[in-house]
Amino acid sequence: MTEPPATPHPDLHKIKTLFDEGTIARRVDELAAQLAGAGFEHLMVVPILKGSFVFAADLLRALHRQGMTPEVEFLHLSSYGKNLTSSGTIAVLRDLDGDVEGRDVLLIDDILESGRTLAFARTLLLDRGARRVEIAALLDKPGKRKAEIDADYIGFTCPDKFVIGYGMDARHAWRELPFIGYLDEG
Ligand code: IMP
Ligand code: MG
Repeated sequence: MTEPPATPHPDLHKIKTLFDEGTIARRVDELAAQLAGAGFEHLMVVPILKGSFVFAADLLRALHRQGMTPEVEFLHLSSYGKNLTSSGTIAVLRDLDGDVEGRDVLLIDDILESGRTLAFARTLLLDRGARRVEIAALLDKPGKRKAEIDADYIGFTCPDKFVIGYGMDARHAWRELPFIGYLDEG
């Protein structure tokens, strides 16, 4: 359940909940159980920053509960700049520290939309010699695909709305919300 904060954000009433905390937590545990049975060896988990950081933190702890011991390396990519629409160009803002050659890698992202971000990341890691690269996306917006890519693990199918919270932002705001919602402009 989402408790209202003691000092409410003035715009919080404009946000409609799409997936609440309990729903997300249950789905994250299901994904972890699926991942535990996927046969990864010496797994490296790579959250794509920034939007995936909350999902990744919860999923990693759920993987621990499944007895998994992944390494974690962060990849910071940018496709949106300051706008809400994708520019189509991906930039590496901060690269991995670790070497992925011969490794099993699980990429984690918040949303698979055009697919350009994850297609770029997967190609980058395969070009560097990763043995196996799979993708876990919290949300899938299937109607929006521009690149040929699908996630191996999906939290929820997302309606065609601009969503915020649980790590996801609208112009740098709302990442801290513990649930996934959208701005109700009506
Ligand atoms: P793609 O490269 O078009 O698949 O873009 C995926 C990235 O765009 C995600 O990782 C998000 O950072 C961002 N994004 C796409 N849709 C939304 C949204 O509805 N809310 C917040 N960020 C979004
Ligand atoms: Mg992102």
